Amino acid sequence: MPESFFVLSKDHLELAIDEIIAIAKMYDRFAKAKVISNLVIIQSKTNWNEITKRASFVKISGQILRKMSGLFLDENNSEVLKNAKTFVCRVINLSSNQINIPELENSMGDMISKFSHAKVELEKSDIVVYLIFTDKENFFGFSKQTGGEKRPIKTKNHPHELDWKLTRVMINLIGLKEGETVCDPFCGTGTTLLEAESMGIHAIGLDFNEKMYEVSKENLKKNGYKSTVLHTDFQELTKISEKFNGVVTDLPYGRASKISEKPEKILKKFLSILPKRKKMAIMYKKELDSDLKLKGLKKYEIYRHKSLTRIILIR
Ligand SMILES: C[S@@+](CC[C@H](N)C(=O)[O-])C[C@H]1O[C@@H](n2cnc3c(N)ncnc32)[C@H](O)[C@@H]1O
Repeated sequence: MPESFFVLSKDHLELAIDEIIAIAKMYDRFAKAKVISNLVIIQSKTNWNEITKRASFVKISGQILRKMSGLFLDENNSEVLKNAKTFVCRVINLSSNQINIPELENSMGDMISKFSHAKVELEKSDIVVYLIFTDKENFFGFSKQTGGEKRPIKTKNHPHELDWKLTRVMINLIGLKEGETVCDPFCGTGTTLLEAESMGIHAIGLDFNEKMYEVSKENLKKNGYKSTVLHTDFQELTKISEKFNGVVTDLPYGRASKISEKPEKILKKFLSILPKRKKMAIMYKKELDSDLKLKGLKKYEIYRHKSLTRIILIR
């Protein structure tokens, strides 16, 4: 079974690791994962690039060619360079050892040039060959240049809008597939709707504030997206529950956005009306957490600043 590697940013490492595993298992339920610090190795039939396209916190990714016993390339590994005109070597040192990276990259480049027709090209090479060092084991991998993914755009930014990476991670953690539908009952500027549609997931947004409803609609239009936005209270979601597979939302904080009642009341009411069988990924401020009697659900803490830590709750 092919193996892929994902070097993750350390900003929200637990979330980032769980996201990669959730995406890999969504595409292939037999996928296996190994985690070495911020490196995740996935064994699955899904191509590394499919997983990378959905993920939020991947810095570098590619396919593992084989584990290294030494630093030597053999002829089997040169297959990958067969149709490439250009290549570059990159060393990723996740180990605690000091490594002279430029020297190693140069000597690897020289060595590969000897048995391949491909030439070294530092900027936009067809293939990147990676040597990955960790304290446990070392890997040898490669990736091909892929066109950067087009990001959704917004007409204007808003103080209470959610970071797109956290929104995307929530969608991925509940394993929504292309063609399924997500509902965001507090959609604000429509971040969830935009992220979902950029991944081929349909979306329905609700917001009781007419201004936010208009902003969401404009943002969808700007991207040529077709998700639905309803100008209504979140409780309307019970009437449309047949239309979506999961809920992803960032609840009101009572700070920058308009609010119908106190955040704690909204959260409790929301949890009580949410259809039990639906998947959910919700975010709310940590102070509200102690009042909730929720057991067995996965929680992540997201520190924003001294007076705001948020919880992401997954079901
Ligand atoms: C924290 S913001 C959501 C931000 C959103 N994730 C974004 O990226 O723009 C909460 C939203 O909930 C909306 N809201 C507050 N009370 C509501 C209610 N009773 N029903 C529906 N929406 C409500 C507010 O208008 C606000 O847009």
